[in-house]
Amino acid sequence: MRTLIILGSTGSVGTQALDVVRRNPDRFKVVGLSAGSNHELLIGQIREFLPPYVAIADEEAARDLKERLTGTRGVEMFVGPEAAERLAREVEADMVLNALVGSAGLAPTLAALESGKMLALANKESLVVGGELVMDLVKGEPERLVPVDSEHAALAQCLRGERREDVKRVIITGSGGPFRGWTHAELAKASVKEALAHPIWQMGPKITIDSATLMNKGLEVIEAHHLFGLDYSQIHVLIHPEGLVHAIAEFRDGSMMAQLALPDMKLPIQLALAWPERLPTGIGPVPLTERPLTFEPVDREAFPAIDLAYRVGELGLTFPAVMSAANEVAVMAFLEGKIPLTGIVEVVAQVVDEHETPSPVVSLVSLERADAWARRRAAEIIEGR
Ligand SMILES: NC(=O)c1ccc[n+]([C@@H]2O[C@H](COP(=O)([O-])OP(=O)(O)OC[C@H]3O[C@@H](n4cnc5c(N)ncnc54)[C@H](OP(=O)(O)O)[C@@H]3O)[C@@H](O)[C@H]2O)c1
Repeated sequence: MRTLIILGSTGSVGTQALDVVRRNPDRFKVVGLSAGSNHELLIGQIREFLPPYVAIADEEAARDLKERLTGTRGVEMFVGPEAAERLAREVEADMVLNALVGSAGLAPTLAALESGKMLALANKESLVVGGELVMDLVKGEPERLVPVDSEHAALAQCLRGERREDVKRVIITGSGGPFRGWTHAELAKASVKEALAHPIWQMGPKITIDSATLMNKGLEVIEAHHLFGLDYSQIHVLIHPEGLVHAIAEFRDGSMMAQLALPDMKLPIQLALAWPERLPTGIGPVPLTERPLTFEPVDREAFPAIDLAYRVGELGLTFPAVMSAANEVAVMAFLEGKIPLTGIVEVVAQVVDEHETPSPVVSLVSLERADAWARRRAAEIIEGR
């Protein structure tokens, strides 16, 4: 029996994690749940899973939640912007699943690891923004950090038991999103509805837009750099429209190991929650004879986010934090109809270019300063367009 805290339990990854728990009541016990503001969904989850602790960021939603919980025995609440971090740090559990979205996930990631827990990490922004701080906490005990992102879960499987010096390079795949094959000019006219219609994965809105610009692959390159200690020159991206091969590791003898699975997040989620064990998921095998598996290079002109992410990753310091924060603001502006899809990466690139006072990633403080500056600057640029 593993005790779990699920941060972001009302989101796409969070609700699927609860499906995994529901299927395996003898393996997992939920001791904490957290949401941003969706108290309607959270209350149903509390009634079903009976966690002794919950966290909710939004204070108004917390008031409603408290009222609705009157009469429900023994639920302690953390409220406010630091609620998820406190839940991760102060409540005893074997493992924290961080399924928050955006750089708000970094402090809870650090809290989970600092308090000695295992961390199943879906929140890729934690590693992009503060990879140095996160990896420092798991030095010598890498098994405490288990990736949930499907490509990194795939790599963790391909690299299990392999000697790191034998790894020549890794390839992370992407389906190409809804705009595979579109030109830059066509992308400039893409609507919000089209961008939200991902052909393979059902995900939260932020990562869905990141998948449409391919910023998501860029973030994943930086995530892989930190998680697996690889140079950027060893991390490659290929488009694989079928979404069945999630990543490939290539070794110095010329061998390649690939991980294949149907594109269903419940698979990497259950693998992370039960790590290193595999549990039955009810998910079928890949139908190998049904259709060919194809791979193609990324169109880097139409999707400049990839090159931007490599550049920012190589620069290091607070550049990735700035890129990630500006991206969050620009994605929101696109969703609100303020800028075109292609404007997202244009805004982010401009903010990155203007980041004149980068600093080493040694504490949350320097990251928060860079984050706040990037958000402000991105908002100004969007306003001025
Ligand atoms: N979805 C996928 O299939 C998938 C796959 C791979 C990786 N990931 C990564 O997993 C993470 C979560 O993605 P998602 O698609 O599940 O996102 P999502 O559906 O938008 O869910 C985000 C969760 O975080 C909560 N939240 C948002 N802002 C918060 C804040 N400031 N403080 C506290 N809680 C907050 C939300 O609460 P409310 O519901 O109350 O707003 C929700 O529970 C992202 O980093 C994403 O890149 C997702």
